[in-house]
Amino acid sequence: MAVPRTAPILVASNRGPVSYTLGEDGSLTARRGGGGLVSGLSAIGPDANAVWVCAALGEDDREAARRAGDSHLNPGDTGGQQVRMLDIAPDVFAAAYNGIANSVLWFIHHLLYQTPVEPVFDAEFADQWAAYEAYNAAFADALAEEAVDEAVVLVQDYHLALVPAMLRERRPDLRIGHFSHTPWAPPDYYRLLPDDVAAGVLRGILGGDRAAFLTERWAGAFADCCAAVLGAEIVRDGDGDSDGDGNGEGAATAVRFEGRETRLGVHGLGADADFLRQRSRQEDVDERLTSLRAQIGPDRKSIVRVDRTELSKNIVRGLLAYRRLLETHPEWRERVVHVAFAYPSRQDLAVYRDYTERVRRIAEEINAEYGTEGWTPVALHVKDDFARSLAAYRLADVALVNPIRDGMNLVAKEVPVVSERGCALVLSREAGAHAELGDDALVVNPYDVEATARALDEALRMSDGERADRTKRLAAAATALPPQAWFLAQLRAL
Ligand code: G6P
Repeated sequence: MAVPRTAPILVASNRGPVSYTLGEDGSLTARRGGGGLVSGLSAIGPDANAVWVCAALGEDDREAARRAGDSHLNPGDTGGQQVRMLDIAPDVFAAAYNGIANSVLWFIHHLLYQTPVEPVFDAEFADQWAAYEAYNAAFADALAEEAVDEAVVLVQDYHLALVPAMLRERRPDLRIGHFSHTPWAPPDYYRLLPDDVAAGVLRGILGGDRAAFLTERWAGAFADCCAAVLGAEIVRDGDGDSDGDGNGEGAATAVRFEGRETRLGVHGLGADADFLRQRSRQEDVDERLTSLRAQIGPDRKSIVRVDRTELSKNIVRGLLAYRRLLETHPEWRERVVHVAFAYPSRQDLAVYRDYTERVRRIAEEINAEYGTEGWTPVALHVKDDFARSLAAYRLADVALVNPIRDGMNLVAKEVPVVSERGCALVLSREAGAHAELGDDALVVNPYDVEATARALDEALRMSDGERADRTKRLAAAATALPPQAWFLAQLRAL
């Protein structure tokens, strides 16, 4: 029997709040999902009467989805939240998620292609695109089934770009919003996509009532793509250059296309101060703090980074900048440790595996080149451990956040909240967080290894007083829109 229409609020995302492991005895154990999107959306809580629709990510999730049948997952697994996990055929899921979402749309929005040889749009791509359409349709069907009349639906991210239009077709009564957690590519780069795909993604999102982004820059780029690819009209607010991009025009507030208007919104997801302060003082974090301190050694400073091992995070150039620091500033040798957390991500993709290998190799090279008996210059950790990340936030003297491009980057926002003595932030100007934190961070061009090395030196030399003052201001800016408020603002706007 299908689920009755009961949900007044729905959220849809590829990755859900939990994922499962199937034990040998046939029991399923639930774990909290990772990533910025899940952190933000977890603020919904069980009381909101919302239903969260997500995909089964692997075989064990699929088993959980099958056991739940057409109804919701066991609330004991989800902290009481109503979650519907879609059992999408493995080959369709793989083509949509690994093929289109992570190898094409993610690469486009983060400008990751090596364009003389990539991308190649061939017959395999055409099949993957068909799978992406089927995967989006599965979400649209489930949402259409669950929603009460005039329900509000919040569709998340590049995995589900086609859902707003597909859902409007099925249920014109719904109020539909789409939120992008990624950057949005500028038109010239976006148009690397085959024309029908470029148009299809934009039409998909424009099928909603509202399209929202983490910063005005990404919203503006989306509007520019709509104009360039579809010939859509951009509605702007009256104040000249209100988005500060220097083109003298007001910020884009809506896109008009084929007789409909889709409003644009900006909600800069912030860090959850209450949760972080409380969680980072727990015993498991204290334990890890002690062992990290021992690893770094007494009287040494630390440069900390915490990322998924993700191409856009620019970990390799971060390591090269650290190597350059040791080369040009010998006074830092034996006096600093680069604690780099690079947690495995998307390991089904060869390019991510290669990148992970490269990160490991460069860390080893630096250690071989500069390490001494009592000092290992780079401490690279690849095993995902949230408690250890929090411990590193507490002790860091410098945080390095240097993505090539990033929708927001929550690490940049979490560090100042958790830091104990103040932490200097070296921040890429291409991270969304730069819009809010740029004034008190040491801002770098992420491609410029030399300038990043200089910024690391400046950060290490920053006086205790200045570091503490800056950290206070960074923490205030970072928590301006905590997840709960971020979520409610989107609901209200619809
Ligand atoms: C980014 C995306 C999220 C995604 C996360 C982790 O933050 O915006 O949608 O969930 O990366 O990526 P993954 O492929 O592991 O879900």
